[in-house]
Amino acid sequence: MLRIGLEAACVACLSCQLTDAYTNSSGQRISQRVIEISDTIVVTGGAGFIGSNFVLQWFRNGGSSLVNLDALTYAGNAENLESLKSDRRHQLVCGNICDAVHVGSILREHRPRAILHFAAESHVDRSIADPSAFIRTNVQGTLTLLEQARLYWLQLDPADRQAFRFLHVSTDEVYGSLGPDDPAFSETTAYAPNSPYAASKAASDHLVRAYHHTYGLPVVTTNCSNNYGPYQFPEKLIPLMILNALEGKPLPVYGDGCNVRDWLFVEDHCSAIRVILDRGRVGETYNIGGNSERKNIDVVTAICDLVDEMSPDCGAGTRRKLIAYVTDRPGHDRRYAIDATKISRELGWRPAEAFEGGLRKTVAWYLKNAAWIQNVRTGTYKEWIRQNYEERISR
Ligand code: NAD
Ligand code: TYD
Repeated sequence: MLRIGLEAACVACLSCQLTDAYTNSSGQRISQRVIEISDTIVVTGGAGFIGSNFVLQWFRNGGSSLVNLDALTYAGNAENLESLKSDRRHQLVCGNICDAVHVGSILREHRPRAILHFAAESHVDRSIADPSAFIRTNVQGTLTLLEQARLYWLQLDPADRQAFRFLHVSTDEVYGSLGPDDPAFSETTAYAPNSPYAASKAASDHLVRAYHHTYGLPVVTTNCSNNYGPYQFPEKLIPLMILNALEGKPLPVYGDGCNVRDWLFVEDHCSAIRVILDRGRVGETYNIGGNSERKNIDVVTAICDLVDEMSPDCGAGTRRKLIAYVTDRPGHDRRYAIDATKISRELGWRPAEAFEGGLRKTVAWYLKNAAWIQNVRTGTYKEWIRQNYEERISR
C-alpha cells in the first residue's frame, strides 16, 4: 500500500482520469498513486441528532471503525456519544466540512470505504431567520466534501473505486408541499423546495447527482421524512413540546395546527441508511418514510396525554390546556408524505416502530435525561427561543 502525502493532492482533469495519471498544481504529469481503502467509514455531522443515533446504532451492530467529522455547532453535542468514550473504533474530529484541507487530510489518513454525509444546518425556522449559514454548510460544505471525496476516490484502484460510496442524507422537504389528496412524494417527484433550508438541501442533492453524472463518483442519496426520537435538539416540534409540557409552559402551535408531517422514528431512519449503504444501487435516490402522517395538533395532543400519564404532577391539570395557536411560519409547507415503496421493494426495508410506540419511547427518554436537557439549553438556545417565539402572537 502506498500512502500519498499532501503534495500529491492533485488537480485532476478528465484526461488524467482516463490515463490513470494526475496533473499536479505545477502542471507536472505524475502517474497515479494507488491508495488501498480500509474498512473505516467517515460520518459527517455524527454529533447531531440523527448522526449520533446512527453512530450508536452502527457500533451496537458491530460496525467497523468510524471517523466522525463534526463542527460541533449549537446542534452538535459530543455528550450524545459519551458511551463511546473509550471505544477505539470511534474517533470524533472537530472540524468543518467547508475546510477542504482538513477534509482531504482526513480522507488520506483514514482511507475510508464510504462517506456518510449527515452534517447540515437543519432547522427551517432558523433558515427563515438567516439563510446564509445554510448556504455555507449545506451547499458550499457539500461541494467541498464531494470534491475532496472525488480527489481521494481517483487515487483508489479500480476495484476499490467501485466499492467506495458517498451516501448523502437529504430530506423530503426538497419536493415542496402536498395538497390533502395528492399522492405521496416518490423518487420521481419534481423538486420544488419552498424554504431556504429546503432550497439549500435541494442544491446539495443536485451537486451530488452531478458528481455522479459528470465524474462517476459512486453516490447514493436518501430523502427522508421528519425524524423524532432521543437526542433531538429541543428546537424541533416534538422535543420542544415535550419539554414545554413538562414545565407547564405554553405549547406554540403554528397556524391552524393542521399541517401534516410523516413521522419516522430515528432508529428506523438509521437502519434504512445501513441497508442502503450495504445494498443501495449507485446513482439512485431512496425515499425513507415512516408511513405515519399526522397533523401537528394531533402530535401535540398525543404528547400532552403521554406527559400527563408519565409525569402527572403538573399543577395545570391536563397539558392540553397549554396549547397556544400562534402566528404561522412564513411559507409553511402544508403536507409532507413519503412513498417508500422503492426501498421496501428493492431492499426489503420497512419502519419497525409505529408512531404511538416511538412517541412513548421518546417522551420516556426526555423524562429520564434531565442532565442532557439542562446541558443543551445554553444561552444560545435561550436566545433562539426568545427570537423565534417572542414575536409570534397568540391567536
Ligand atoms: P442536526 O442539526 O441535529 O445535526 C447536524 C450536525 O451537523 C450537528 O452535529 C452539527 O454540529 C453538524 N454540522 C453543522 N454544520 C457543520 C459543518 N459546517 N461542518 C461539520 N459539521 C457540521 O441535524 P439532524 O436532524 O441530525 O439532520 C441530519 C441530516 O439529516 C441533515 O442533513 C438533515 O438535512 C437530514 N434530515 C433531517 C431530518 C429531521 O427530521 N431531523 C429529516 C430528513 C433529513
Ligand atoms: P419542525 O420540527 O421544525 O420540522 P419541519 O419544519 O422540518 O417539518 O416542525 C414540524 C412541524 O411543526 C412544522 O409543520 C412546523 C410545526 N411547528 C409548530 O407548530 N410549532 C413549533 O414551535 C415548531 C418548532 C414547529
